[in-house]
Amino acid sequence: MSDSDLVLAARAARGFARAEFSKFKVGAALETTDGMIVTGCNIENATYGLTICAERVAMFKALSEGHRAFRRIAVVADTEAPTPPCGACRQILWEFGGDLEVILANLRRETGRHRLSDLLPLPFDKRLL
Ligand code: THU
Repeated sequence: MSDSDLVLAARAARGFARAEFSKFKVGAALETTDGMIVTGCNIENATYGLTICAERVAMFKALSEGHRAFRRIAVVADTEAPTPPCGACRQILWEFGGDLEVILANLRRETGRHRLSDLLPLPFDKRLL
């Protein structure tokens, strides 16, 4: 699968975002090691704190469908500057996805590419328990 397939899937998922409060729509597409794509979008709530980001929706969907191993995640927002995963999402992505490649894009172009280990140095994880 090409990078642009993954970015296009994230962009399509962004169309389903429920971002009535922030108006900040985000889409994510997670690639499994067997080449499947699982998407997510951000879902906000009137209580604000129950909002869940696109990346976590994608990961929780994937886990709940039985996927266990992941290669990459694309994240799309309509911003000039890159929209990287928030701290909570970094932790969840690390926990279940390991050192993913993280591809950031806006509606026109790629805006960044990182290893998750660079975005989350010195993570807390089960090796420390
Ligand atoms: N958001 C995401 O879904 N992913 C990110 O990487 C950054 C932030 C959402 C959460 C909230 O619904 C809105 O964007 C503004 O923070």
